[in-house]
Amino acid sequence: MALQTHPTVDAHPYLTGNYAPVDREITETDLPVTGRIPDFLDGRYVRIGPNPLGTIDPARYEWFLGDGMTHGLRISGGRALWYRNRWVRSADISRRLGERWPGGTHRAGFDFPANTNVIAHAGRTLAVVEGGATAYELTDDLDTVGSFDFCGTLRGGYTGHPKTDPKTGELHAISYSPLGGPAVRYTVAGVDGRINHVVDIPLPDNTMMHDFALTEHHVIVFDLPVVLNVRALGSSLAHKLAGRALGRLARRHPVPDMISDMLWRGSARMSPDVNWPYRWDQNHEARFGVLPRGGSAADLRWFSIDGCFIYHTLNAYENGNVVVLEAPCFPTSYEGSSLPFDASPTLERWSLDLHTGAVRQERIDDRGQEFPRIDERLLGQPHRFGYTVGFDAAAVGEVERPQMLFKHDLVQQTSQTTGFGPGTQPGEFVFVAGDPEAAEDDGVLMGFVYDGSSNRSDLVILDATTLEAVARIHLPTRVPNGFHGNWIPAEATVER
Ligand SMILES: [Fe+2]
Repeated sequence: MALQTHPTVDAHPYLTGNYAPVDREITETDLPVTGRIPDFLDGRYVRIGPNPLGTIDPARYEWFLGDGMTHGLRISGGRALWYRNRWVRSADISRRLGERWPGGTHRAGFDFPANTNVIAHAGRTLAVVEGGATAYELTDDLDTVGSFDFCGTLRGGYTGHPKTDPKTGELHAISYSPLGGPAVRYTVAGVDGRINHVVDIPLPDNTMMHDFALTEHHVIVFDLPVVLNVRALGSSLAHKLAGRALGRLARRHPVPDMISDMLWRGSARMSPDVNWPYRWDQNHEARFGVLPRGGSAADLRWFSIDGCFIYHTLNAYENGNVVVLEAPCFPTSYEGSSLPFDASPTLERWSLDLHTGAVRQERIDDRGQEFPRIDERLLGQPHRFGYTVGFDAAAVGEVERPQMLFKHDLVQQTSQTTGFGPGTQPGEFVFVAGDPEAAEDDGVLMGFVYDGSSNRSDLVILDATTLEAVARIHLPTRVPNGFHGNWIPAEATVER
């Protein structure tokens, strides 16, 4: 991937091609299929991404702040029963659509139409996002129930990358907020949907932490050099003055509860008018923190690493006294620009020796790739296979285009590649096991693939062993390039 330039008023890399938003919500039933949908699939595939509603000023647009829109399919009995796309109804989106806000709490963080991930937990479907913004609960049909604060147990925002422990069903998360001061919060939510464990982790600065990692006995904290930068805050003079004063405070101290409450309530009363306030800081030491599960902040052990930024974990696991972490790694991010990706990410492995304190870093693959996924039955455990999306090299001023899917065999140190034809762009692919006892790659991969020639997308289902297509479900629209999705089995949610 090449260095990106700043967006201009005429064109914005995340508002053109298949990064451009769609302008309507669609419900389509009984979708046409090429191939055969495996009978074991009974549930929904739901993916989310930024899809700004209404008129957009390209000079001000930031991809990470685009209004969240879900795209979902209900699959059962070898049929694609429906496709729906829906904006998440924050208070502001509801107002702009001329609707009544479905409801919720204002103590769960900034009111924002979550755009980063869709998960199932405690029988609920949740749209989630980072940066101090609230999670939103959705119905099985992707309508918005309201903002969600884990039954009153979470205050001040969640994360786009919580992790379900496959053995316990508990949901682990690390959250940060521009109002949170120099710290992040580690939480565990039980299968009852209530947070039952909280550890506040002090840091040297107010750090952006998009993801983290979990092993059988440890939590890995990413303290990397993208931090709150007051110069990036606000656009109007009033916002700049207020934002900079608050930003200076929040970089060193948590903002007092009374002010946080006021800001969260205020965020639901007006359209957001802020910029993403985190930037690369080369003076910030990059390090991983290893926290024993159930431990306190005093039990954290820090391991310095070479400066980089990690958006997503592939997996982490333990090998005796060594904690191993695998992830795509960007040399920098947000380096003096409002665009997140400055350079190409490579797939790396870090080995952290808990006895000696030594760190070893090795490169798994130097091709540009992101959106790492595994068979999540092995989350936190040693695993063999990983799946990532490969990107082309962008021309200057353009954004990278997803081009292919990689399957990594991390034991044999080999990889397979599959493409989807000229002019196509795949999104993240998720693994679904053929049955609960199936082998690690015995199942399917599914993800959206955009076809530029038809200007539509398919949900493509691949055999995870061979990467051969077994089914293509043809959608009536395109699905803009976005963020993350998951397969949600029918039994994982309960209509309330
Ligand atoms: Fe992400």
